[in-house]
Amino acid sequence: MSAQPRRVENLHTDKGKVPVYATGIIEQPWDDYSADDHATWAQLYARQRELLVGRASDEFLIAQDAMGMTPDRIPKFDDINRVLGEATGWTLIGVEGLLPELDFFDHLANRRFPVTWWIRKPEQIDYIEEPDLFHDLFGHVPLLMNPVFAEYMQAYGKGGVKAHGIGPEALQNLTRLYWYTVEFGLIQQPDGLRIYGSGIVSSKGESIYCLESDASNRIGFDLERIMRTRYRIDTYQKTYFVIDSFEQLIRATEPDFTPIYARLAQQPSIPAGDVLPGDVVLNRGTGEGWATDGDV
Ligand code: PHE
Ligand code: CO
Repeated sequence: MSAQPRRVENLHTDKGKVPVYATGIIEQPWDDYSADDHATWAQLYARQRELLVGRASDEFLIAQDAMGMTPDRIPKFDDINRVLGEATGWTLIGVEGLLPELDFFDHLANRRFPVTWWIRKPEQIDYIEEPDLFHDLFGHVPLLMNPVFAEYMQAYGKGGVKAHGIGPEALQNLTRLYWYTVEFGLIQQPDGLRIYGSGIVSSKGESIYCLESDASNRIGFDLERIMRTRYRIDTYQKTYFVIDSFEQLIRATEPDFTPIYARLAQQPSIPAGDVLPGDVVLNRGTGEGWATDGDV
């Protein structure tokens, strides 16, 4: 038996069954991980680390190595925290799963990153619908070692607390920014297009797909365009947004978003796969193989 999450209940929403977890911070129950759990980590780690050479951004790969993660066993949060604290002042906290938005933003605003403590089961190696330890730790935590990205994540948390106070539409705009940068962002490196989004680096299929497939769009970063763009949670992305550098991300998100939220409230959202006049198109997707509905 592997260590399992303590799910509190299932909430039935218009998106289907959503698992609800305890919101408290919990100590990583490291001794409870089974040999299977460590083997799942080892298998995923080795596979992704190899795949990501030449695909993930240099910043990601350098940070990941500097953090001292290895495939040997599931890392201890305490060990990571010593290195991370030294580098950028971020701390990992253990959680059961997704947190209420305001709790999540408040943690980020204080440089605390919530990491799901449990890891997927062997039969979920290639696909899991909700974030687990592998996604959070392998995917999100390395870039917290990078001072510029560390800054962006904290600023995002502060912006989240603010957007939460403004209303659900502002929150939706900001959530799209997180989705298309932190989770599914691409970056233009001198030697080619690379991945930095956590949702991509923790997925074998999408790590290949996002760079090589002709089906999806790859478009230059544009803050307001992103904030208007819907996204898919159940398939590979139809559109990826490409930044030039993490500095660009900081610069573009520095201004007060309040007037932007007000302006966007007057405009329709953009379907996930659309290309607009004015988009800087690196690759215009053929859209082949895609369902046409289900945008969220
Ligand atoms: N500047 C944004 C605001 O005023 C805050 C923010 C920073 C949001 C970085 C996202 C990322 O709301
Ligand atoms: Co994530």
